[in-house]
Amino acid sequence: MDRIDEIILERIKRDTVSGEELSEILGISRSAVWKRIRKLEEYGYTIDRNRKGYRLKEGSDLLLPYEVRPYIKTNWLGKNYIFFEEIQSTNSFARENDYPDGTVVVAESQTAGRGRKGRKWISVPHRGIYASIILKRNINPYVLPVFSLLFPLAVRNVLQEVSGLEVKIKWPNDLYVNGKKIAGFLIETDLEGNTVQKIVAGFGMNINQTEDELSWILDTATSLHIETGNIFDRKSTLGKILVELEKRIDSFSPEDTIREINEGLLWKGEEVCIPDENVHGKLLGVDNYGGVKILMENGVKSFYSGDLSLRKVQKKG
Ligand code: ATP
Ligand code: BTN
Repeated sequence: MDRIDEIILERIKRDTVSGEELSEILGISRSAVWKRIRKLEEYGYTIDRNRKGYRLKEGSDLLLPYEVRPYIKTNWLGKNYIFFEEIQSTNSFARENDYPDGTVVVAESQTAGRGRKGRKWISVPHRGIYASIILKRNINPYVLPVFSLLFPLAVRNVLQEVSGLEVKIKWPNDLYVNGKKIAGFLIETDLEGNTVQKIVAGFGMNINQTEDELSWILDTATSLHIETGNIFDRKSTLGKILVELEKRIDSFSPEDTIREINEGLLWKGEEVCIPDENVHGKLLGVDNYGGVKILMENGVKSFYSGDLSLRKVQKKG
């Protein structure tokens, strides 16, 4: 969708406009107008056609720039908004291409959505929100583990607000509802020496997926729809997330971030393990550097690598 499509939508939203008039306004042929109307219908717009011309009847549910822009009430984040109907991975696209700070890449579906450690992120078309944010700022690499926690915090706040559900943060990069994963984050950084060149913060959220659509991961995954029975407006939800993220990035405070993470931490006070490190103990919380503090037999120890996986120890019996 480009500027011309947006002008067509603006015009036919207000009045019935003939193909001839549109072709004059836009300086394109009538058949080009017709092709664009067809494409808009493919994008989910309902357009009435009669003798007098075209009239927009209903907007699209897709996360198109024209649809989401009214909700992006930000100063810089998402002003550059790139939309794909389908792409391999928004994170890969954002890493491989050069776009300015604050660019947001959104896709309706991903054919190779990625999680950590090469794992797959299942991106059911039109049901979730799959997005990557590009930041080009010189953030101290030592602060990155804490800075990265901004993303789950912002998304958690908005998901709680729109759904009324309690959303917990599973250190370091997942959101859980009722013991199941509802969102995941993949924060990738390009460093040159010790200087951060680019941060690509990707997030995948399960919003309107049905049980059938997540059937093969239903043991561990859920969506807002599965938990509430409601259908959620993805456009305003995405807009709210960008507003919340911009606010948090602009006023980033490591202390406040850690405090909030600890308030919403999943499994706090419970027995957990880190299988890769052969660690078992009680989860005490997240420390000032973004690491996870675990009380073990030989004392308290923090673990930092973002590649570690925290698991709950299932009680026997
Ligand atoms: P950890 O983050 O602790 O390592 P994890 O199993 O959540 O554990 P991640 O790499 O964070 O691993 O996330 C990728 C995993 O998420 C996949 O292995 C898959 O099990 C799960 N997954 C993939 N798509 C979805 C989805 N749409 N909703 C929920 N979970 C998903
Ligand atoms: C995880 O749970 O390990 C992270 C999942 C991150 C998925 C999002 S969807 C948008 C962005 N593009 C990707 O390929 N991955 C992230």
